[in-house]
Amino acid sequence: MSQPDLATMPAGALHAVDITAATFKADPFPFYARLRREAPVFPVTLRFARQAQRAWLVTRYGDVVRVLKDSATFVKDPSAAMTAEQAKAAPMLRLPGPFQVLQQGLLSLDGDRHARLRTLVHKAFSARQIERMRDTAEAVTEETLDRLLPQGGFDVVGDFALPVALRVIGRVLGVPDEDHRRFSEWTRALVSLGDRHPLWVAPAVLRFLWYMRRLVRSRRRAPRDDLISALVQAQEAGDALSEDEVLAMIFLLLSAGHETTVNLIGNGTLALLNHPDEMARWRADPALGRSAVEELLRFVVPAETATERYATRDTEVAGAGIPRGELVVAVLASANRDATQFADPDRLDLGREANRHLAFGQGMHF
Ligand code: HEM
Repeated sequence: MSQPDLATMPAGALHAVDITAATFKADPFPFYARLRREAPVFPVTLRFARQAQRAWLVTRYGDVVRVLKDSATFVKDPSAAMTAEQAKAAPMLRLPGPFQVLQQGLLSLDGDRHARLRTLVHKAFSARQIERMRDTAEAVTEETLDRLLPQGGFDVVGDFALPVALRVIGRVLGVPDEDHRRFSEWTRALVSLGDRHPLWVAPAVLRFLWYMRRLVRSRRRAPRDDLISALVQAQEAGDALSEDEVLAMIFLLLSAGHETTVNLIGNGTLALLNHPDEMARWRADPALGRSAVEELLRFVVPAETATERYATRDTEVAGAGIPRGELVVAVLASANRDATQFADPDRLDLGREANRHLAFGQGMHF
């Protein structure tokens, strides 16, 4: 089905737009531009595992910053926000037993529990580990291009971005090369859930957890120069990550680091192909690299929205009332095109200065 003209459709029809449809995602920017002008906080119905839930889309730059920074009013843990009745009716708050470890990562936690984990994880991301990640990313990119370029042409997402992202994260974690095929299959199953119920990929999740648990235990016995060993060894004031917390972190690194990177490479390449003048500008001046990557992050927005937040009390954003316990979605793709923050926001300008984009979010989960 072709996409209706989002810039001109009657205001009443905006509620019928399916923001999860592939046709919408191909170019969501006109829709968000209208919301910023006409309805900066906009209720939509999201479907998850066949259940419906109302969500409030927050689209203006200033309001997105406020939602992400006000971590007392907008929290990650729905049970800390909802009334008992709301929690009972809400779709899928808690995963069953063996899968709960996946919900203990940084992006599921608030307040002190988040701060504790983030401090410990920060220890593992030492300057040395970051340097190692850069070397790994460069080596994997070179290897992959050496293999692909002689073919004369390749699919940027399937042949390049996906395998590079997976291989880099696998090596950074310390997954042995001979296990890489299994590791990629499970990871792809894990991150390609879409709106299906998580139990749909239960066998892959269980095998992944079993494998990773063994790897974590072996690194605890005999640490190596890899991220799993660094996570296992990270200590702060006598505190350390438990085995489940290390597993949750590994899972989060895979899910948070995988799709975003692939989207930036894929959509960034497309943006450059659609703007040959900007591509020529970058080729002529490689020193543009830093601002160019920041601008591509702003322009393509690898994560269209921040992850979910829940209102802990009845509150108001941009004049709209949001009831306690309801789902709030900060739309990063919209904030990054807000003309109150960015001059000529729909233009790709690889030399853009003072580019305070929100591609990585804002606040404590930045
Ligand atoms: C283009 C690349 C990336 C983009 C645009 C991106 C974007 C984001 C955004 C928007 C958030 C915050 C979500 C929220 O507040 O709801 C986030 C959090 C996070 N990202 Fe990324 N990300 C990228 C790459 C990566 C990579 C490569 C990794 C690791 C391998 C990673 C790991 C994380 C983690 C662990 C968090 C949670 C931090 C916390 O809760 O304290 N991200 N990312």
